[in-house]
Amino acid sequence: MVKILVKMYKIAVFVSGRGSNLKAILDRLSQFESTAEVVCVISDKIECSAFKIVESKNIPTYTVSQNDEKGFISYAKILLLLEDLDIDLIVLAGYLKKIPNILIEKFEKKIINIHPALLPAFGGKGMYGLNVHKAVFDKSVQVSGATIHFVDKVYDNGKIIAQKSIDISDVDSPEQIAERVLEIEHQLLPEVVLKFSENKVVEKNNRIYLLN
Ligand code: GRF
Repeated sequence: MVKILVKMYKIAVFVSGRGSNLKAILDRLSQFESTAEVVCVISDKIECSAFKIVESKNIPTYTVSQNDEKGFISYAKILLLLEDLDIDLIVLAGYLKKIPNILIEKFEKKIINIHPALLPAFGGKGMYGLNVHKAVFDKSVQVSGATIHFVDKVYDNGKIIAQKSIDISDVDSPEQIAERVLEIEHQLLPEVVLKFSENKVVEKNNRIYLLN
């Protein structure tokens, strides 16, 4: 009998909140005959709600902090773990803390983030969650959307991988923008993760292209 060994594409997902983007990734990977898998979920919060999503899936969860405080694992140890697991891609799916440089240096061009606005506008320190949508609302911006970008040492600064926009000209509140943008996030993030796993994200002309 000939056994064909397929190398799995291994993903680590970092979360801080409810984890709807994590769920969107997991759902998409399970629908699709993919060789990609989420092998661990990491949060900065003990009992993070997103952990519940993987409870029944046998995917280990870890809680990280700067140091080895009680109940937390330091970033230095998480780095060793990610190297041990042979992680191909780190996805920040609503992770609110800044990723330390030790991780960024080891996983250069292998860490991506989803931002709930069209970067380079409405990004940077303090621009997360509803803050982003409030700023977009107050500026009377008519189109918003989601951006997937590489993570470098500066907040929301890495090269843009994919963006999708949505008309928000008729919204009454920042919450309504958040709702519309989230729907887009749930489409865009799994799509991009799949492209990475298929080796279809390339850099050319100093730009990023997604191949068909
Ligand atoms: C998303 O809007 C994401 O873009 C932002 O935080 C939110 C996380 O949502 N950075 P969830 O935890 O994936 O539901």
